[in-house]
Amino acid sequence: MSGIVIRNGQVVTALDQYVADIYCEGGKIVAIGENLEVPAGTEVVDASGQYVLPGGIDAHTHMELPFMGTVSSDDFFTGTAAGVAGGTTSIIDFIIPSRNQSLVEARDFWMNNAKKACADYGFHMAVTWYGEQVEQEMRRVYREDGISSFKVFMAYTGAIGVDDDEMIGVIDTAASLGALVTAHCEHGLAVQALQRKLVAQGKTSPRHHAESRPSWVEGEATNRAIMLARCSGQPIYIVHLTCKESLDAVVRARQEGQLVYVETCPQYLLLDDSVYDKPDFEGAAYVMSPPIRPKGHQEALWHALSCGLIHHVATDHCPFRQHDQKVMGLHDFTKIPNGAAGIENRIALMYTYGVATGRLTLNQLVDVCCTQPAKIFGLYPRKGAIRVGADADLFTYDPAASSTISARTHHQRVDRNIFEGFEIRGAVTNTVVAGRLAFTKGELRVERGSGRYLHRV
Ligand code: URP
Ligand code: ZN
Ligand code: ZN
Ligand code: ZN
Repeated sequence: MSGIVIRNGQVVTALDQYVADIYCEGGKIVAIGENLEVPAGTEVVDASGQYVLPGGIDAHTHMELPFMGTVSSDDFFTGTAAGVAGGTTSIIDFIIPSRNQSLVEARDFWMNNAKKACADYGFHMAVTWYGEQVEQEMRRVYREDGISSFKVFMAYTGAIGVDDDEMIGVIDTAASLGALVTAHCEHGLAVQALQRKLVAQGKTSPRHHAESRPSWVEGEATNRAIMLARCSGQPIYIVHLTCKESLDAVVRARQEGQLVYVETCPQYLLLDDSVYDKPDFEGAAYVMSPPIRPKGHQEALWHALSCGLIHHVATDHCPFRQHDQKVMGLHDFTKIPNGAAGIENRIALMYTYGVATGRLTLNQLVDVCCTQPAKIFGLYPRKGAIRVGADADLFTYDPAASSTISARTHHQRVDRNIFEGFEIRGAVTNTVVAGRLAFTKGELRVERGSGRYLHRV
């Protein structure tokens, strides 16, 4: 395998920015410096005038997820390929057993599906019920598969959601392993009660999805997740945090000395709930949980991001096509499959609306999109860093380019883009995955099945 050199780029990490060449061979970064001498036959990428960043890590995706009577429309190949087109070179997806299903059986199913990925992938294990068997299986997947993070859903009661007692069990078992618990925070029973009332009143449109899951329902659960972790003396990681109430709970806990990791997603930073007023059922494209929030929450999230309270911007990439999947809930919002695509646009959106507006520094962008997820989830410094010995996962970003997001041109396998029409400053121009140029000049050169499983212990 011949090497590749990226010449003359502005190398940007979570801490530094400097001009250098980066030479990669055997899937690793082997030299960084000015005017590097490289073997004949080395592929050369000229990055003059461009930034070179560590490959993006998206620690929250759902490729080919069986959910709400259908399956998310990007599989591990198409979803990771879309990520590569957007500068993301590793994902951490979720194994989600059904209630009462063996964790190991679910693991085998997801591991098999993921073999087609073209970027590296790890898994969080969702724990959707609890008992002696689950405890043993949590230990087993930690040991055998290096799965060092577990996920609980406080929403989706009656399906994949757990109650407080089960959650305490998960936290305690994870604690004994030294593993991290992550939580989807919404009060499941409150959501169900609100859904019943709205549907009984004939309020069945996408807008009512948002009304059935108000911000205080999330804030309560965020506070409870933090409290339950505190009872066990553990940190906790809050996935897709969307609102002021949840931030308040996080600030309080952190001021009292508890470690709370926070993730948000571009849709919660950039969209407000007016999206649910779109005509012709188009609001369904934005049906996800938690929902897109009213105006005001977005600015609070940006502040939390810029002051370091939010660690990771992931996507919760979970696409469903409008014409044959979202439409399942045409007459009842509770039947609209929850989720949307985002993996391809994450970094460009954070550059355009974070860095170019002055809300974030470029180093902060690298931190929240690439480095922090690696550190939190046991991948650093193999991932999330530009240094000798790290995986050769990199991308170049040309700040002079511009484009407009559209479902007509994206690589995500879905017929809507929730950022349709958003102007983008700059562009991902080359993506190197494990030392191979997998995206260049707008063209994907990915190889199905080239992604590697990431053991994180
Ligand atoms: O609506 C969403 N977020 N769908 C994916 C599952 C989840 O809750 O993350
Ligand atoms: Zn969730
Ligand atoms: Zn999710
Ligand atoms: Zn279609």
